[in-house]
Amino acid sequence: MQIGNITFKDYPVILAPMEDITDAPFRFFCKRYGADLMYTEFVSSEALVRFAGKSLLKMDFDEGERPIGVQVFGHDIRSMVRATEIASAMNPDLIDINYGCPVKKVVNRGAGAGLLRDVPRMIAMTRAVVDATVLPVTVKTRLGWDEQSKNIETVAEMLQDTGIRALTIHGRTRSQLYSGKADWTLIGKVKNNPRITIPVIGNGDIDSPQTARQMIDTYGVDGIMVGRAAVGNPYLFHRIKHYLKTGENLPELSLEARATLCLEHLERCIALRGERVAVIEMRKLYPAWFRGIPGFKPYRMKLMPLTTVAEVRHTLDEILERCGRSDLSGSGGEYGQGIRTE
Ligand SMILES: Cc1cc2nc3c(=O)[nH]c(=O)nc-3n(C[C@H](O)[C@H](O)[C@H](O)COP(=O)(O)O)c2cc1C
Repeated sequence: MQIGNITFKDYPVILAPMEDITDAPFRFFCKRYGADLMYTEFVSSEALVRFAGKSLLKMDFDEGERPIGVQVFGHDIRSMVRATEIASAMNPDLIDINYGCPVKKVVNRGAGAGLLRDVPRMIAMTRAVVDATVLPVTVKTRLGWDEQSKNIETVAEMLQDTGIRALTIHGRTRSQLYSGKADWTLIGKVKNNPRITIPVIGNGDIDSPQTARQMIDTYGVDGIMVGRAAVGNPYLFHRIKHYLKTGENLPELSLEARATLCLEHLERCIALRGERVAVIEMRKLYPAWFRGIPGFKPYRMKLMPLTTVAEVRHTLDEILERCGRSDLSGSGGEYGQGIRTE
């Protein structure tokens, strides 16, 4: 696959942008385990044009993370243009526009998936963003606003004509939020439309090497994007990539390996945000890091109130002692669905 001048030598397995998740500490692990392309969390154009510190921080990345895209969203075309200029000055590899966020306060302002209800505006905005940067621009969106208005097939052609270099489609409508099952049928139709020449990346519910293979084989997409299933489980990138190359299904990480990674994740978050904030923020990620471990709930309850890294380290050690540093190889079960909020 090629996006602008970015060439992917392997079949691209891409980390989905996720607010409050895909920050630099988490991306570090996804890169380590083979994510071929990553994005920042989405950045509000309105915040960027005011140079809000938090938004600038979200765009920060390490050279080792390349290729990386900064994702922007907004409702006002002028702000989107200015935000694109500011984001481009950070020198990422690409700029991605979010037309998929379903959150009420975003869509009600006419941003994110809200633009699926105003296609002329979406097209004008995309063209303006493409013109505002020398970087390749990509778009991430959904099938349509609701069941009655799944307009992705025509929207894809119109978006391509603006000059975007790739399109990611999440196989749900805005109305579905994250419920039900992602429907890849229309993603496949867009991919197989002879008019579409840009790469089409499929997204939605890939949670194992096998689902990855199945989606690629059934729908012929140029790349796949993985979101929730990678949360607390960045090793999934390695398992998927290994399976695509060899057909071998690697076991999931052992409890001990997960505890080690979780602690390393916490330490990286501390380096960025300080101990107190990082330890509190890590609370929402324990269920993901230890997803699928039988009987983990009481241990999670022990981890939740902790406020220092020393306590977390001690508790994880205690958990390992009690559970045995068990290797979960061959336990078979996939981690299942990830967290569900945006
Ligand atoms: C917590 C969370 C935050 C998200 N934030 C973003 C975001 O900032 N930008 C975006 O385009 N999509 C965002 N998404 C949607 C994901 O990128 C992805 O499209 C969706 O989760 C479906 O893929 P999955 O089934 O692999 O998780 C978010 C999803 C979750 C669960």
